[in-house]
Amino acid sequence: MDISRTAIWKSIKHLETLGLQIEAVRGRGYCLVSPIELLSEKKIKSELSPTARQFCNELIVLFKTESTSSFLLNRLSSENNHGVVVLAEYQSKGRGRRGNQWVSPLASGVCISVAWHFDVAPNALGLLSLYMGVATARTLSALGVTELGLKWPNDIVIKDKKLGGVLLELRGEASGPVDVIIGIGINYDLPCFALADIDKEVTDICSLTEMHLSRNKIAATLLSNIFEVLEELELGVSTDFLDEWRQYDQSVGRRAKLILPDQEIEGILQGVDNQGLLLMIVDGQLKSFASGEVSLRIQ
Ligand code: BTN
Repeated sequence: MDISRTAIWKSIKHLETLGLQIEAVRGRGYCLVSPIELLSEKKIKSELSPTARQFCNELIVLFKTESTSSFLLNRLSSENNHGVVVLAEYQSKGRGRRGNQWVSPLASGVCISVAWHFDVAPNALGLLSLYMGVATARTLSALGVTELGLKWPNDIVIKDKKLGGVLLELRGEASGPVDVIIGIGINYDLPCFALADIDKEVTDICSLTEMHLSRNKIAATLLSNIFEVLEELELGVSTDFLDEWRQYDQSVGRRAKLILPDQEIEGILQGVDNQGLLLMIVDGQLKSFASGEVSLRIQ
């Protein structure tokens, strides 16, 4: 390759700082601790559904970026973002809900953001975050992941362990025009050291199934489901996404604590209402809560 050993060593060290696990074998070289499949624009495009192919105006695969959602937000004023998809192998400042960081070392997750512009906001815009949870759950179910659940407002869980999450960001007017950035992260093969940076119980696809699902296939199936939801919202078709969300909700009847910025509320969960608000019996009374700056701990 016409490069020095030092240059190779430096590259290996750089990949390690991004979270890739590499073993040095004395006298022989370097070896990945487990094989990785890099994301490929070509492979993803080839597996998109006809609807996704029609609606995806641009598909950008980055090796490294701060955050795929920030990447799209930063382009909002200067470029036409409608139908633009960004994926990254590594995010240095991956963002979760409520200012949390989203930890996803190099090639260990599926980190994807989609930008969409609505001239007129659809009636169900407030439900989009829940719908994206459904799109993610549909994706994983179709690929053979079982026992999937959705935890309000937008966690994808398996047996109470977090497998993925949705971050929805809106810019514009509530009634439109409005730009939406949908960010979805799925844990694919989290290295053990990453768990120290995550303050909740998590799981990943590789621990759940021995099928060695392809990250490109997951990304393509997820995009197909995301664009299907967006198409239905655009067309104003009345769908049963909310009922589907309820089918994935495993928390009805369970005791939970809701952590608001200024107080904590305990109660028994009762699912979501037709606006996507969380329903909870608190001191014998049924109350509803909007997602905003709220965190839900199921007990
Ligand atoms: C959450 O559960 O808190 C939401 C996590 C969302 C993470 C994804 S990864 C792709 C996109 N880019 C980001 O910086 N965040 C979202």
